[in-house]
Amino acid sequence: MTNPPLLPRPIRELPDELISQIAAGEVIERPASVLRELLDNALDAGASHIQVRLRAGGVRLISVEDNGCGIAPEQLAVALKRHATSKISNLQDLESVSTMGFRGEALAAIASVSDLGLTSRTAHQAHAMTLQARTGELSPAAREVGTTVEVQDLFFNTPARRKFLKTDATELAHCVDSVRRHALARPDVGFSIWHEGKTLAQWRAHSGPDATSLRLGDVLGESFVADAVAVDHRAGPLRVHGFAGTPDAARARPDQQFAYVNGRFVRDKVIGHGVRSAYDDVLHGQRQAVYVLFIDIDPARVDVNVHPTKIEVRFRDSREVHQAVRTAVDNALALPRLGQSTAPSPIGAAFTPAPPVRAATWPQARLDWSVGHRVAELDVLWGQKQGPHAQDGQVPTLASPHAPGQAPSFAPLDMRAQPSDNPPTGAEHAATDWPLGRALAQLQGIYILAENNLGLIVVDMHAAHERVVYERLKGQWDGQGIECQALLIPTPFQASPQEVACAEAHPEALQRLGLELSVLSPTSLAVRSVPNTLAQGDAVALARSVLEELQSHGATQVLERARNETLATMACHSAVRANRRLTLDEMNALLRQMETTERADQCNHGRPTWRQISVAELDALFMRGR
Ligand SMILES: Nc1ncnc2c1ncn2[C@@H]1O[C@H](COP(=O)(O)OP(=O)(O)OP(=O)(O)O)[C@@H](O)[C@H]1O
Ligand SMILES: [Mg+2]
Repeated sequence: MTNPPLLPRPIRELPDELISQIAAGEVIERPASVLRELLDNALDAGASHIQVRLRAGGVRLISVEDNGCGIAPEQLAVALKRHATSKISNLQDLESVSTMGFRGEALAAIASVSDLGLTSRTAHQAHAMTLQARTGELSPAAREVGTTVEVQDLFFNTPARRKFLKTDATELAHCVDSVRRHALARPDVGFSIWHEGKTLAQWRAHSGPDATSLRLGDVLGESFVADAVAVDHRAGPLRVHGFAGTPDAARARPDQQFAYVNGRFVRDKVIGHGVRSAYDDVLHGQRQAVYVLFIDIDPARVDVNVHPTKIEVRFRDSREVHQAVRTAVDNALALPRLGQSTAPSPIGAAFTPAPPVRAATWPQARLDWSVGHRVAELDVLWGQKQGPHAQDGQVPTLASPHAPGQAPSFAPLDMRAQPSDNPPTGAEHAATDWPLGRALAQLQGIYILAENNLGLIVVDMHAAHERVVYERLKGQWDGQGIECQALLIPTPFQASPQEVACAEAHPEALQRLGLELSVLSPTSLAVRSVPNTLAQGDAVALARSVLEELQSHGATQVLERARNETLATMACHSAVRANRRLTLDEMNALLRQMETTERADQCNHGRPTWRQISVAELDALFMRGR
């Protein structure tokens, strides 16, 4: 069975009162704006393949050929009239537009500043017809069902406007951008671009669940997809989906940020801010996230009629959109990507990234158990006495002998995790089954080396521990509040009068942050309790840094807006420092903690916490198997 041919709807002039409702204005600034309008029209016509041909950056020629529904011969002249459209007919339609076009202005505007030819054929016609806009001449032509719009000599009659055009290369780049934006949103449509007779890009149509990621790969490169996480989140009438780059993939410029509302590319502050706030926690400084996000929303809840070029929209409830975007990206970034090789060749060209192993492919049940089990053991170890360095490289078990009373080489990492209630009774799996593997050694007092099934794992121990502590603090803050622990002996320290005043003024804020300070004299304070997550750290340094945050931000701000910063500072102070020797037990405990910590792939400053170097990469380095 074949589908009935797609037939065009009649094009009608809009009534005057509706015209006055439409955001009017000049829409044609440069070749790329012509192209955007023509691509919109082709997509609205239901095309599944679109060919773009350009000459001189689009100034000499922009031709867009589609295989959509076409325009009936008697309608060709109507299509070129101002305010004539087949897409809406009344105010109600305008309030819930689901097509890209709706004003009936684009072709008229383009025809007024160029030499425009419109060739089209519907499924009912034996052959195509061409209308020359300038002369009004209508003549038979040859082509399949669909439409070709040829725009020649843009701004030939408005030299002032033409002067503002940049070089052909720049105009061409804008044109290609315009096609890319459309192509990203419509992986089901094939696109090809030609310039001066040469192919610039050809993207075939994709179908199925991977269509979007395949198209993203075509347009933005495979590395974009490899370094991005899938986003898919529903919030009532809203769906936010697409891909968000990992913090690693962030760029100096915001040139890979694509947001779409119901398939329309938009620049929108609400969406932009929603995304930025989701990256807040993992991307510090000036780095710009990369993303392609699609917001699907009931058309009645968004006004597309606010800007002449339709690049801006207005949401009926912008808070709802902000929240949905933020949550969508936040959730996607929080999923651990452990086991996926994120390493850009760390030691030169010999390294190729290992095939990614997505988190979803890990045997989750086994992982949960082994983590719980191991961490429980470590709790036992650290709860009473510290184990010696496991020099034989074995992961310690409860049966491991420990030298009684042997002091730890440093204040141990606090690794309290929930032991699993029901550990399976089957044989234990190899330690290398853990995504981050088993610890082998510490390197230069900075890195932990571990072995997993894929090869070697290198962990930046301070960065990783900082993230683990930070996430735990945030979790406690959002839950029962930060758990604190009284120090057996309060720790006194010299304090400035400002610090003393601050401690006196904000006991509640300090308490919410898990700290209790008492004033000993006008120039000294004592730390009486600290967050138990940070109990092993330097209590005085912690107190000082929190007082500093309170002084610079004010208590209310610290507790509300600057809470993440404050908790991050606290975590940084307490995280294990470089040059601290860790036992293998401690290293393993940190690895297990990372595996169950959200956003463990990045430190609080957006740097990676670990890298995988696969055996294949090592083999390549040593030219094995060649
Ligand atoms: N490629 C095409 N295939 C089929 N019909 C087309 C095509 N291009 C334009 N049309 C018809 O011509 C009409 C006018 O197009 P035009 O782009 O000027 O206005 P619009 O798309 O309706 O609104 P807007 O000004 O917002 O783009 C459209 O409503 C559509 O019916
Ligand atoms: Mg249009």
